[in-house]
Amino acid sequence: MSARPGAAEPAPGALLETVRTVVSLRARVLDWRIGGQTIGLVPTMGALHDGHLALVRAAQARCDRVIATIFVNPAQFGPTEDFDAYPRAEETDAAKLRSHKTDLLFAPGVGEIYPAGFATTVHVAGVSEGLCGGHRPGHFDGVSTVVSKLLLQALPDVAFFGEKDYQQLQVIKRVTADMDIPVEIAGVPTVREADGLALSSRNVYLDPRQREIAPGLYRELVALGAAIERGESVGATIAGARRRLVDSGFDRVEYLELRDARSLAPVADASGPARLLAAAWLGRTRLIDNIAVGA
Ligand code: PAJ
Repeated sequence: MSARPGAAEPAPGALLETVRTVVSLRARVLDWRIGGQTIGLVPTMGALHDGHLALVRAAQARCDRVIATIFVNPAQFGPTEDFDAYPRAEETDAAKLRSHKTDLLFAPGVGEIYPAGFATTVHVAGVSEGLCGGHRPGHFDGVSTVVSKLLLQALPDVAFFGEKDYQQLQVIKRVTADMDIPVEIAGVPTVREADGLALSSRNVYLDPRQREIAPGLYRELVALGAAIERGESVGATIAGARRRLVDSGFDRVEYLELRDARSLAPVADASGPARLLAAAWLGRTRLIDNIAVGA
């Protein structure tokens, strides 16, 4: 059991303070460390939904203090991607974090994270290649760089990431281990709408027709996972699922693949822990999803 805060300090979750500089983030963290409290970090790009808030709840279950970060990271968007259009809603986000008893919001500006002269990129080989990495050049370099910085800035005990972005979770586990960043990386299961659609800040881009089609991605993954577990041919079942997705109204299936759950190397069956991962386009919106398959 950790020491409780002193009389002058608010109890965990009693207030949500917003800080915008690394110096003030570290000052707050130091106070908590001196009080013997454990710290959980939840990095986000904002436009918070119940998926993000599940990470906050997971952090609260394990840590005395919870820090959420909101930073729409320009380094992880490609030149033709939606950086400018990406939803930004800091006030609403802060209200959600406050009602979920988050202790601190770190919401830095771009200049705080990438000051003039910034020249370092963190690149993770292997797990960041293929899948999203194959279709979004530089994306995981941007993610690895910003997440390394956020982990080193806050130095929490545990940082929480969603399985919704499964490849991202593996990339972050890799970079944290490889760079000896003394933080545990915890994965949190995907939160879904009642019809199976994985919650995403980008779902607001879907028009009503696309919103009806969208849950088909998860339905196909579940059916495909069951077929693979029954021993059906991976190649043939994946080809069938790709066709059905396009027939149901998806404009394009970017990838649909079975991979080793940890290394993300391609696998031909689900004899060991495996993951089915997919990205598909509905108009100008790119949806991703994944499920566990096999042992
Ligand atoms: P963002 O897309 O805002 O997601 C922040 C965190 O919420 C990620 O760990 C993501 O996996 C998790 N998340 C999103 N939707 C979820 C869902 N439906 N269920 C469970 N978790 C979900 O991912 C990023 O931001 C950025 O790349 C970031 C890691 C913050 C680095 O910039």
